[in-house]
Amino acid sequence: MSIEKRTDVLIVGSGVAGLTCAIKLAMARPDLKITMMAKATKDESNTRYAQGGVAAVWNIKADTLEKHIADTLDAGDGLCKEDIVRMIVTEGPVRVQELIDWGARFDKELSGEYDLGREGGHSENRILHYKDITGWEIERTLLEKAASLSNIIILENYFAIDLLTQHHLGYNVTRMTPDIECYGVYALDKENLDVETHLARITILATGGAGQIYRATTNPIIATGDGMAMMYRAKGRISNMEFVQFHPTSLYNPAVESQAYLISEAVRGFGGVLRTLDGEEFMEKYDERKSLAPRDIVARAIDSEMKRLGDEYVYLDCRHLNVEEFKIHFPNIYEKCLSAGVDISKSMIPVVPACHYFCGGIMVDRDGKTSFNRLWAAGECTASGLHGANRLASNSLLEGLVYGHNIAEQVKTAIDKFDFKEGIPAWNAMGTTHPKEMVLITQSWKELKDIMSSYVGIVRSNVRLRRALDRLWLLYQETETLYNSSTLSPQLCELRNLITIAYLVTRSASMRHESRGLHYTTDYPEKLDHLEETLL
Ligand code: FAD
Ligand code: SIN
Repeated sequence: MSIEKRTDVLIVGSGVAGLTCAIKLAMARPDLKITMMAKATKDESNTRYAQGGVAAVWNIKADTLEKHIADTLDAGDGLCKEDIVRMIVTEGPVRVQELIDWGARFDKELSGEYDLGREGGHSENRILHYKDITGWEIERTLLEKAASLSNIIILENYFAIDLLTQHHLGYNVTRMTPDIECYGVYALDKENLDVETHLARITILATGGAGQIYRATTNPIIATGDGMAMMYRAKGRISNMEFVQFHPTSLYNPAVESQAYLISEAVRGFGGVLRTLDGEEFMEKYDERKSLAPRDIVARAIDSEMKRLGDEYVYLDCRHLNVEEFKIHFPNIYEKCLSAGVDISKSMIPVVPACHYFCGGIMVDRDGKTSFNRLWAAGECTASGLHGANRLASNSLLEGLVYGHNIAEQVKTAIDKFDFKEGIPAWNAMGTTHPKEMVLITQSWKELKDIMSSYVGIVRSNVRLRRALDRLWLLYQETETLYNSSTLSPQLCELRNLITIAYLVTRSASMRHESRGLHYTTDYPEKLDHLEETLL
């Protein structure tokens, strides 16, 4: 039996971007039914794991909007859109204040002033944080606020599979067409594996990143790039996918878990120093800002030192820091290290870079509008122009807050123009059977991670990218055959999406014949004079 559900606005994703948008829209238009969808529980997201905090100009005696703008542009290595950077940095403090008004607790000093942290690439202390679990606090605040609004419904364990677009009714195949409309999504109810049709007058994607294409990632297991992959399949515009940010310092764990534990950059802001295994402080060879240089520089420096010395990790030295102060600022990091056998007051922390953030994604304009009508997008699944070729630390929670708000401002009036689309066919599962061998899916996922980690990591080259594309093509063909003959499972859908994302990253990397920001290739080590976005 086919199930069809209707909602005025459908928001796929319950992280900072989706929740902010839902709350703002629900407050502005209590007459609208707003449905949110989360593929796991409503609080499982990249947002929940954010540690360092949210960047915003707060101490106006020392800091200015212009300084935050300049730091963001500098980190972005020439590819940020300055008007977007200005908009987000300028609106940022207002959005953060709203979050505080809704109950977010950020740490304060004894004086009562906010305790502003510092991270790589920031010229001032401007990171508001809640201990070392800022994301958890923001997610808690937003979920509580959303629960107080009766016109927001959150569907947990619902997996959006594909966008409902003209795609299903016959459409022009060039990605440039502005006339593609989105009418909602097909979604898998993970409890009974039924595929439902979710019709919406307006749809918003806030599906987060895709760190799971790599072996080592700070992202949770759900970060499989579903929104970006859905958009690509529906012929939407995607940009700058080669700019994958590796965080310099995840806790080294030879067992490689699905999610690496992050050692926040704020620890380096607090005075932690990077050293090779023989104790040498190496960052001054690479940048005068040393351990607090922007992430692309620090991650590449670590990668280079590890390759030079044949080591599997480097150290983050915190032994000289006041341990009691450290425990106050970073209680969870302290405990995690201790549980891994590292007492930070006596031993150095073994760290390695891990895939952390996607600067590219679904192209959106300053209002969050995608290349499709009736479809907006916000947060890590997008390329808004804020991050350019490399994201400045703690700017992404800020982006989610600002874009969430701005989309709500647009949608609250735009929605009156749109009605539900009638005549959308139900999902067709004819001729499919349950996959007999789950190992085909799990093994392909492992192969994918190996390909991306070996050939499309921090340092790239033509020959590595070619090899990756050839192997991805094989995985793609095998997975499409499986997909077309199998009843859907979340794992199979995720694998399919991950292969699409891996292809987009590798293809975009092959198209960029220069080294800029997070994209470094030994075949084109120089930066070109002319600036271009990579469009797919
Ligand atoms: P997310 O928070 O990832 O939410 C995605 C949502 O989409 C989830 O609800 C998920 O269930 C849903 N979803 C995805 N696919 C589907 C599907 N197919 N069907 C249904 N639902 C779906 N940024 C900072 O600014 N400061 C920090 O200190 C910071 N620290 C970080 C630390 C870690 C360990 C990590 C991993 C990231 C950190 N970041 C930080 C980055 C930041 O947390 C994320 O970029 C940001 O939270 C993304 O928010 P989002 O709303 O776009 O997506
Ligand atoms: C961190 O705490 O180091 C993460 C900050 C970020 O990714 O913005």
